[in-house]
Amino acid sequence: MSEDSSRRIVELDKRYVWHPYTEMSHYRKSVDPLVIVEASGSRLIGADGRSYIDANASWWTSAVGHNHPRLVAALRRQSEALCHAALGGIAHPPASELAEALCGVAPNGLSHVFYSDNGSTSIEVAMKLSLQYWAQNGRPQRTRFVALEEGYHGDTIGTTALGGVEVFRKPFSEVLLDCFYVPPARDVSQLARCLEELQTVIDRNTNTIAGVVFESMVQGAAGMRIYDPAMLRAARELCNRHDIFLICDEVFTGYGRTGPMWACEHAGIAPDLLCISKAFTGGVMPMAATLATDRIFDGFLGDTDRAFYYGHTFCGNPLGAAVALEVLNVFDDENILDRAKPKAEQIACAFEEMEALPGVAATRSIGMIGALDLIGDGGYLAELGWRVYSEAQRRGVYLRPIGNVVYVVPSLNIPDEDLSELLTVVRESVASATEA
Ligand SMILES: Cc1ncc(COP(=O)(O)O)c(C=O)c1O
Repeated sequence: MSEDSSRRIVELDKRYVWHPYTEMSHYRKSVDPLVIVEASGSRLIGADGRSYIDANASWWTSAVGHNHPRLVAALRRQSEALCHAALGGIAHPPASELAEALCGVAPNGLSHVFYSDNGSTSIEVAMKLSLQYWAQNGRPQRTRFVALEEGYHGDTIGTTALGGVEVFRKPFSEVLLDCFYVPPARDVSQLARCLEELQTVIDRNTNTIAGVVFESMVQGAAGMRIYDPAMLRAARELCNRHDIFLICDEVFTGYGRTGPMWACEHAGIAPDLLCISKAFTGGVMPMAATLATDRIFDGFLGDTDRAFYYGHTFCGNPLGAAVALEVLNVFDDENILDRAKPKAEQIACAFEEMEALPGVAATRSIGMIGALDLIGDGGYLAELGWRVYSEAQRRGVYLRPIGNVVYVVPSLNIPDEDLSELLTVVRESVASATEA
């Protein structure tokens, strides 16, 4: 693209586009956005022809690389046959075949698939399924949810209520559902206290709790914060004991991001409701699914007023479903999970070594996630991470931070040479941005 055309794109962007999570007057005055016109594998290609390693996998979606030829081919094939059909009274091959395949790879006991459009709606569906289930199956007083402090489950009003990242909650605090929050145990020293709090909240409020909603293992938007799998195991046991639904939000952690296909496997448990999106379509189409057990499904059978009165225009969209089915085939045929193991080890080693850098307070990693906290005030709005972002961009890496947390979440099949380059750039950018 010519320089003039690229400049015009930025002018139109600044004139008309309202960006998410962005204060627009600062953006218009001071931000020089990347203009991206193509992508391939682990790289985004700029209007000037320069390529950038996508350390963010485009908001954590691009699990098998951008524009994977098989995903593009599946999209093209499906678009020539059927782009959309209402899932009201219609069945079509991509939605049916995908549902069968999903139940085949899902944790034990999940045997029904409800489609929606994005991560937030997959959680919203799980919340509403839980509320309606109890309302029509003898426990109407069960209207509250238990969530983890610092969690993030999306931006609808329902999912905002579950979340604990202050900046997302604050403007809406007056209208949010009243939830219970328990602290996640970040290390063994906190475990006993956190487990006790979880148990106390659930034991004391059994009659009013509809479900417990956890991001499995890692709280992404909180800054790639990992918690002890014993929390998930305890949640499962308490939910069993009191007959409450456990909802695992695997919108971010599903599809091998933390190592196994599902992060709840670290705890050896299966939820009653599983929420998936992002890597579900490999970042090609916006789509999500909520998987449920037979028991929950059966709780909606009978008179017509027991139906789940919820749906979105594009639920089960054939294009998204065809791509999602091909993502599962690619995972299988290309052995994505096994081949990611040495890459995950490389990320773990590199971040461990970065702990010694003068500007770094702490590092952590799990699977294909590596993160570090810069020394300085934390929180979502902290600035230092953005200096690292600029340094990385100069060096050819898109490294969007979360406040002062610098992290990498690359494609699971990022080529080895790109991964080495990415980790070197992270190290250099952190060192140079935090130099005294
Ligand atoms: C764990 C988790 N749940 C839900 C969501 C919401 O997904 P979406 O942005 O597609 O609505 C996100 C988004 O980052 C997420 O990380």
